[in-house]
Amino acid sequence: MSEHIAFRTAVAADAPQIVALIRDAFPAPLVTAMTYGCPGVADFVAEQIAVQDLGGETFYVVAADEQGLVGCAEGRRLPRRLFLSYIAVSSTIRGQGIGRRLLLALIEAAGIEADELALDVFDFNTAARRWYDRLGFESRESGSWCEASLDGGRPRPVRLIGYAQAEACHRLYGFSQFTLCTPEGQYDIGRLEARWYRLSDPAAIEAPGVLATLKRLAPERRLLLIGNASKAASSLSDAREFARSHRMAAPLNNLRKRLTERRPERAGTCQDH
Ligand SMILES: CC(C)(COP(=O)(O)OP(=O)(O)OC[C@H]1O[C@@H](n2cnc3c(N)ncnc32)[C@H](O)[C@@H]1OP(=O)(O)O)[C@@H](O)C(=O)NCCC(=O)NCCS
Repeated sequence: MSEHIAFRTAVAADAPQIVALIRDAFPAPLVTAMTYGCPGVADFVAEQIAVQDLGGETFYVVAADEQGLVGCAEGRRLPRRLFLSYIAVSSTIRGQGIGRRLLLALIEAAGIEADELALDVFDFNTAARRWYDRLGFESRESGSWCEASLDGGRPRPVRLIGYAQAEACHRLYGFSQFTLCTPEGQYDIGRLEARWYRLSDPAAIEAPGVLATLKRLAPERRLLLIGNASKAASSLSDAREFARSHRMAAPLNNLRKRLTERRPERAGTCQDH
């Protein structure tokens, strides 16, 4: 069946199907904590695709048959490193080698000198973790995703940078980012719909005045702490971990070899799965 599938870089018209594939690939509560859960994300993806061959950091490859997309992957070009942000194959045709070919297409489409491919995978996603293990990825570190309410002392004078642009972006896509400055430092503050402030810097949680200012701007939002920010969660009274993730990486040379080598014939029948 997979012989009829073409692997190519994405075009802007693919954006709605890319969004649908990625939304389908993750549990619904997690999707609400991702930009992919936001209402205008397909327009955002289309904009990223429009500049992916003009120096855009983010780029996309897709697997398509006559009916439309059956898989997609989103990558980021970092200094000497590729990052796999998302990969998804239609649930009805998994296990047929499409994921492997998508990964290979992603590496080929990147067009930069890179030593390794890195990614984050959720702890509960044992099928994907096993797949990455077999492809030679190794775990580097683990992190967690936490949520907490917005409590945090008294507001103090701060500066907001890029807030007006963030408002415009938010109306368009349903997510945005601005910078909050205090005398101690500058902190990037992500926003997802009306629901979350997304923070990845632990210093933002500890800096006096940050959380109180965020609460004053939008008291209905909750905090979503990802990556290193979750390390500061213990200072928040009601922080709750709801997912763990692992950073994995593989040297590109080895990965290319594994992705192109013949897959061993499987013994047994479908019932074995
Ligand atoms: C992870 C994913 C992209 C892999 O795509 P795929 O087309 O199934 O990948 P492949 O067929 O190339 O390889 C999957 C491996 O799992 C095995 N497998 C068997 N049944 C499977 C099934 N129902 N689903 C997935 N994999 C299965 C395959 O045989 C294969 O084993 P191998 O590597 O030893 O040959 C796909 O499973 C998916 O979309 N999962 C949901 C989204 C996700 O978890 N993304 C990764 C987040 S980091």
